[in-house]
Amino acid sequence: MAESEASAPGVRILFVGDVVGSIGRRTLLDCLPVLRERYAPTFVVVNGENAAGGLGITPKIAEQMFAAGVAAITLGNHTYHRKEIYPYLDSDAPILRPANFLRSQPGRGTCVVERDGVRLGVVNLSGNLYLRAGRSAFTEVEVALGELDGVDQILVDMHAEATSEKVAMGWHLDGRVTAVVGTHTHVPTADARVLPGGTAYITDVGMTGPRDGVIGVKREQAIEALRTQMPIRFETSEEEPWLMGALISCSRPLRADSIEQVLMPRPPEPQPDR
Ligand SMILES: [Fe+2]
Ligand SMILES: [Fe+2]
Repeated sequence: MAESEASAPGVRILFVGDVVGSIGRRTLLDCLPVLRERYAPTFVVVNGENAAGGLGITPKIAEQMFAAGVAAITLGNHTYHRKEIYPYLDSDAPILRPANFLRSQPGRGTCVVERDGVRLGVVNLSGNLYLRAGRSAFTEVEVALGELDGVDQILVDMHAEATSEKVAMGWHLDGRVTAVVGTHTHVPTADARVLPGGTAYITDVGMTGPRDGVIGVKREQAIEALRTQMPIRFETSEEEPWLMGALISCSRPLRADSIEQVLMPRPPEPQPDR
């Protein structure tokens, strides 16, 4: 994006896909200053479901992300992997678990965050195909949107395995929310566009983590598990970390002007002068 666009008026939402392990966290923290300079995002929203060693998130990690300027964190099927996050999910912190989990499960599925006088509603949903979510994403999203009356923009993170469910959710919400962004598969798709009703859509933004693993895991271990069909202990790969996400720009309430993919390698470590 040209420098003049970065300083253009309007709202820009930078959404960052599943942060995987400490390598993903370091990549997020190293890329954010560059992306702030490049895009001047009003809001940064991050999916953090794999942030703690590849599975789940802890309050400390969430606080570290908020301290880096992240406005809200969304999660997914790994939400409850770390027990210490349960009370934090019920606090006032802007961290969400899918809205269509059971009401009895810790946390909530919507929040509103404010920056520069703009109110952004965030909704986290889980797909129902091949994932455990107690209630239908398609019925519960209506309840979730009802909780966000009067906000300026709405971002929906549809955390799902099946592309069909994500595409359908995009169409279902077209013209009613600013953006529907997909997460969970850790592989970015090439279908980012603004739908006819004005909703920005992408099936999956990808992950923030090691591109040279198998969706975050050391590739030798993933191949070994598939080859032998035996249980293998998985570790997070450290190779070739990238930040993956999408930038949504808006100039009207609840509508997007554009969506573009953000695919950025972690900046190299500064070398000491010789
Ligand atoms: Fe997931
Ligand atoms: Fe994930």
